Amino acid sequence: MSILKNYVQENKDRFINELIELLKIPSISADSSYNDDIIKTADAIKISLIKAGCKIVEICETPGNPIVYGEHIINKKLPTVLVYGHYDVQPADPIDLWDSPPFEPVIKKTDIHPEGAIFARGACDDKGQMYMHVKAFEYMIQNDALPCNVKFMIEGEEEIGSTSLEWFVKRNQNKLSNDVILISDTGMISNVQPSITTGLRGLSYVEVEVTGPNRDLHSGLYGGAVANPINILTKMIASLTDENNHISIPGFYDKVIEATAEERVEMAKAPFSLEAYKNAIDIEEVYGEKGYTTNERNSIRPTLDVNGIWGGYIGEGAKTVIASKAYAKISMRLVPNQDPDEITEIFTRHFESIAPKAVKVKITPHHGGHAYVTPIDNIGYKAANRAYSETFGVEAIPQRSGGSIPIVALFEQELKSKTILMGFGLDSDAIHSPNEHFGVFNYLKGIETIPLFYKYYVELFKNQND
Ligand code: BES
Ligand code: MN
Ligand code: MN
Repeated sequence: MSILKNYVQENKDRFINELIELLKIPSISADSSYNDDIIKTADAIKISLIKAGCKIVEICETPGNPIVYGEHIINKKLPTVLVYGHYDVQPADPIDLWDSPPFEPVIKKTDIHPEGAIFARGACDDKGQMYMHVKAFEYMIQNDALPCNVKFMIEGEEEIGSTSLEWFVKRNQNKLSNDVILISDTGMISNVQPSITTGLRGLSYVEVEVTGPNRDLHSGLYGGAVANPINILTKMIASLTDENNHISIPGFYDKVIEATAEERVEMAKAPFSLEAYKNAIDIEEVYGEKGYTTNERNSIRPTLDVNGIWGGYIGEGAKTVIASKAYAKISMRLVPNQDPDEITEIFTRHFESIAPKAVKVKITPHHGGHAYVTPIDNIGYKAANRAYSETFGVEAIPQRSGGSIPIVALFEQELKSKTILMGFGLDSDAIHSPNEHFGVFNYLKGIETIPLFYKYYVELFKNQND
C-alpha cells in the first residue's frame, strides 16, 4: 500500500471525527441570528489549517462574513495552487423532514453508501469537501510530499451570493495570485465513475410582487370585479414558458451558444440511466424543454423556475378573501455567454409588459452570476484526470453541471486563472435538502486523490516550462 493510502487508512477515524466537530456548528449564512456560529466556524477552520501545518493563516474581515485565508509558500519559483471552498451552509428547514437533527452528525449506511455516510447540513456542501483539502494538505506536510505553494481561501457567503468574496478578490489580486484554482464543491457521476466538472451554469434570481387592491377584500363582495393578484401572478408565470417548455421571454435565448452536434454526442456517452434517475426521485416521467435530453436540460440549457410562491390565506380552514398582494421568487439558470444583468433586465421589462393594468408589479433582483466552462486541454484538467485515474482505476469523464458557483467566473476575470472542479459528491447526497449526507468513501477518496493532483500538476507544469 502506498504511503498516501496508508496515511488515509490510519487516520480515517480522526479525519471523520474532525469533520463531525465542524458540522456541529450551524454556520447558516442566510440567517443573521447564526452570526456567532459563522465566526466560530471561521475560527475552527483557521485552527485546523494551522494544525495541518500552514505557515500563515489569517481571518480576513470583510463587510460581511470573514474569509479564512491561508498561505504556505515553499519556493516562489514553484507554481501556486489556490484552494477555494465555503464554510457557510444552507438553512436546514424543513426541519421535520430530517431523520436526525441537521447539526448533530450521524453516520448511517445507505444503498449508495454501503460504507456509511455522514448525515448533517453541510456534510457535502461544502464543509466535507472543503475539509478534504485541509486533510490532503496535512498529509503532504507530514510526509514531505507538498510539491508547490498553496493558498487557501475559505469563504462564508457562498450560499448567499459571495458578495464579500467579490469585494475581497477585487482588492487582493496580488495576494491571491496563483497558477490554478482548485475547488471541491461539485459532484461526480458515481463512486465507480469519477467525473470532472467542466461547466457551471450562471444565475439570475428575482423576486416579484404583484399588488391588486390596497387591502385584502371579501371575495364575495369584490370577487369577479377586481384583479386577484394571486390569479394574475400564476397566469403571468404560466405564460413564461410555452407548450414545448421553451422560455417565452423575448430575447432570452439571443446570446445562448448552442452546443454542437459533436459536443452533444460526446455528452451522451456518459453513463446515465433514465430509469434510475426517475426512481431516485419517485417520478413517473421527466419533464422539460422539447428537443433535449435530461442531461442536456440540466446542464447546457437555460431554465426558469419558481422557487417559492406565496400570498393570501394559508391557515387552517377556509377564509374567503382576495389578497392585496402575491409574491414569487424566480430563478433563471444561465449558460455561457448569457449575461445575468442583461437577463434580469430582459425579464423585468417582459414581466412588467405582461401585467394587466389592474395590478402593479415590483421586481427586485437578487444575486446572480455568470456561467463557466473550462477546456480540457490544460495541465490542470490533465493532472486532475490522472489523479482520479489512479485512485478510482478508471479515467474521469468531463461533465458540465447544472449548478452554479458564480464566483468561479469572477476568479477568471480578476485573477486570470482557470478553475479545476474536483467534486466528490453525488447527486443523491441531498445537498440543500433534508438529510444531506456525504459518503465516508467519498470523503476519504477525496483526501487520497487531492495530493495526486498536486503531484501531477507540478510534474506537468515543469515539463511545460522546460
Ligand atoms: N456547491 C453548490 C453548487 C453545485 C453543487 C454545483 C453541485 C455543481 C454541483 C453551491 O454551494 C450552490 O449551492 N450554489 C447555488 C448558487 C448560489 C449563488 C446560491 C446554486 O447552485 O443554487
Ligand atoms: Mn457549495
Ligand atoms: Mn450550496
